[in-house]
Amino acid sequence: MENPVIIALDFKNADQAKSFLSSFEGQSPYVKVGMELFYAEGPSFIKWLKEKNFRIFLDLKLHDIPTTVHKAMKVLGGLNIDMVNVHAAGGIQMMRAAKEGLLAAGANHTKLIAVTQLTSTTEKVLNEELLIKNVDMKDCVTHYSDLAKKAGLDGVVCSVQEAMKIKEVCGKAFLTVTPGIRPSGADTHDQARVATPKEAALKGSDYMVIGRSITQSETPVTTYSEILNEWRDSHENNNFPTFA
Ligand code: C5P
Repeated sequence: MENPVIIALDFKNADQAKSFLSSFEGQSPYVKVGMELFYAEGPSFIKWLKEKNFRIFLDLKLHDIPTTVHKAMKVLGGLNIDMVNVHAAGGIQMMRAAKEGLLAAGANHTKLIAVTQLTSTTEKVLNEELLIKNVDMKDCVTHYSDLAKKAGLDGVVCSVQEAMKIKEVCGKAFLTVTPGIRPSGADTHDQARVATPKEAALKGSDYMVIGRSITQSETPVTTYSEILNEWRDSHENNNFPTFA
């Protein structure tokens, strides 16, 4: 069974991230590097993680014209990362260009996923600000997921609440990567729509992106193990067994 926990390394520099990871001595969890850390440290930190055998989701959310995204993905594909993403709002042509950029770099193993709608976007913003009218958030997210699937992507970032519907439309092998996870009773911080690891397992999530619940825990390794165990215990009842 594949490990479904991706730890969000939301640290401002490599020293802080390395200090946090040192407590995982002997384990190499799947980690997510976002814009702040990548812009601060660049590819050298990614290379360091790879040397230590960490699996890496590079969360840079590319969104530009297809040619630019193709060239950028060709560079990122050279970093031997395990997962990377684009915004589905860039359209099918842009998403295809992203995939082709990765393939041009020989990064056949790198999963390419799409951000559908940011969890910070409300339905009001969708309708009144972005003028995406007559559609609710769930239908919009499902539609964007369908576009990503048509473009040949491997999956999407979505909330746990949307994962099941996406699996129905895009197939059970289409990956759902879900942030907003909180162990029962934990601080929800600024996340509006949260789910427990158990709910994630039961509702079709393939990977859980978890930041503060682990990074700010007094015992991060124990919290990580507890989350993993809760997911594994619940996953037996999942109707969407997408793992090997
Ligand atoms: O600390 P927390 O568990 O809320 O961190 C969630 C991580 O997932 C953060 O790195 C955040 O940027 C990311 N994320 C998110 N919602 C999205 C996409 C990414 O929370 N829609």
